Amino acid sequence: MKHKKIEWEDNYSVGNVELDRQHQHILQLINEIVELLNQTEPSKEVMSRLMRLYEVAQQHFYFEEIYLSRSDYSDLKSQQKSHSAYTDHVLQLMSDGVSNAENRNALISFLLEWWNNHILIEDMAYKGHLEQV
Ligand SMILES: [Fe+2]
Repeated sequence: MKHKKIEWEDNYSVGNVELDRQHQHILQLINEIVELLNQTEPSKEVMSRLMRLYEVAQQHFYFEEIYLSRSDYSDLKSQQKSHSAYTDHVLQLMSDGVSNAENRNALISFLLEWWNNHILIEDMAYKGHLEQV
């Protein structure tokens, strides 16, 4: 089953230009990986894109945690917890590889679900907080 590209929408904004820019970069990488996985024979490019997403996400988490900690965000702990859960999961998926359809589907589901949970739910939770600082 082919997955459509996720388009950035204004309501994905958390109200901070730098965090939005990082989220847009993450979304772009997710789209590129899903696009590569939609092909019948995914190329090696998938793994290098996934590695890039991993690095970009690590930098983003680091920035986000510092930013939230400096602004005294009360739910920082749950952000840190989910960032580390994401990190563990993506490392597992990278070591599983994408040589069979089951792994490819698991990777697509993970990326799409992560986008929805990370940005649209977990990060939206701090939007109101940032507006007040
Ligand atoms: Fe984020």
